[in-house]
Amino acid sequence: MDQINIYSGEEVLSRIVVADGVEALEECLEQYRNVFVVMDSNVAMKCPAAYDMSQMLNRRGAPGMLVEASEEAKCMETVMDICGWLLDNGADRDALVLAIGGGVTTDMAGFAASLYKRGVRFAYVPTTLLAQVDAAIGGKTGVNAWGYKNMLGTIRQPEFTYLCPQVLESLPMQDFQSGAAEMLKTFIIEDGGHYARAVALLQDLAADFVKACESSSTLSYNEEHWSEVLSRRLSQMTPLIAAAAKVKAGVVSRDQYETGERRKLNLGHTFAHAIESLAHRQHDEMDHGHAVALGMVYAAQLSEKLGMAEEGFAAALERDLDSCLLLVICPYGVKDMAEAMRKDKKAEEGKVHFILPRAIGDVTVHALTVDEAVALLG
Ligand code: GLY
Repeated sequence: MDQINIYSGEEVLSRIVVADGVEALEECLEQYRNVFVVMDSNVAMKCPAAYDMSQMLNRRGAPGMLVEASEEAKCMETVMDICGWLLDNGADRDALVLAIGGGVTTDMAGFAASLYKRGVRFAYVPTTLLAQVDAAIGGKTGVNAWGYKNMLGTIRQPEFTYLCPQVLESLPMQDFQSGAAEMLKTFIIEDGGHYARAVALLQDLAADFVKACESSSTLSYNEEHWSEVLSRRLSQMTPLIAAAAKVKAGVVSRDQYETGERRKLNLGHTFAHAIESLAHRQHDEMDHGHAVALGMVYAAQLSEKLGMAEEGFAAALERDLDSCLLLVICPYGVKDMAEAMRKDKKAEEGKVHFILPRAIGDVTVHALTVDEAVALLG
């Protein structure tokens, strides 16, 4: 069992535990007497490791609530339902809310726990790669409101985040790619040699997948082949997941409330949110991972235009992402994205904090108006 801590000064705010299976989770829960489980309604059926966890929690007599984990259900009403359920089940100030699911589930359960009786303790078992390397680490909780993503929320740290690689075995390719893009984002922010290792592994996964599809003459995407390919290489993912969690834990320890360095974790996201909001409006298909990958390429191009990154950096990044099957053609022009970027909830005095990579492992925060960014990229 590996442990990574999030600190405030010397104080441990939150623990990230990297371990296999159910037993280690039981150990993590030993000190908590009253555990209340909030679980993604799909996870128990689709994910054998999460099912084993729910069985163990049943045996311990922990009450459980299933929630729908969709962007539509990620709203105040669900949070109120969770709080009402906690009340009905006698949850007191010493309760621990344990969320099992992806980022939507952990965000909602964490938010409910931070409101219920002025705040009770909570912990996470993230079941997607995206939640393991990003959403379930660092204490951001929240729901969508008034048409904006994560408009209501808190920053409050979970007691622990339990990273168990086995829960990823049944992760669909699309969800894996969303997490893979966030993992690469993390290593572009802080490298330590992990970026090249991650790209190499993702390239191997992509090559294995293409080969499996070709050999069975399935010309299109096939989820069964994906599962086989992923389970064969899952153990190679574990050190990279732990490394990404460590980078994020370090950033959050230094800037929990996002007044400076933590902004870097938004690399690629100003463009990605604009792309996702255009896709939503036009009923186009656009996965989060693909939007983030495109967003990072735009950020790299902007960095080059400003003379911060060497010429060719954006093209090299583009090649890496493409070889990992993370890149799609952007169906929108930069001018189309401008309006959505102007509405960025993180904009201050008309300027958006663009996160610009100067090289792998070296990013900076640069405030620009959207018009300035569009003119540079245009
Ligand atoms: N997902 C970005 C952050 O936690 O700050």
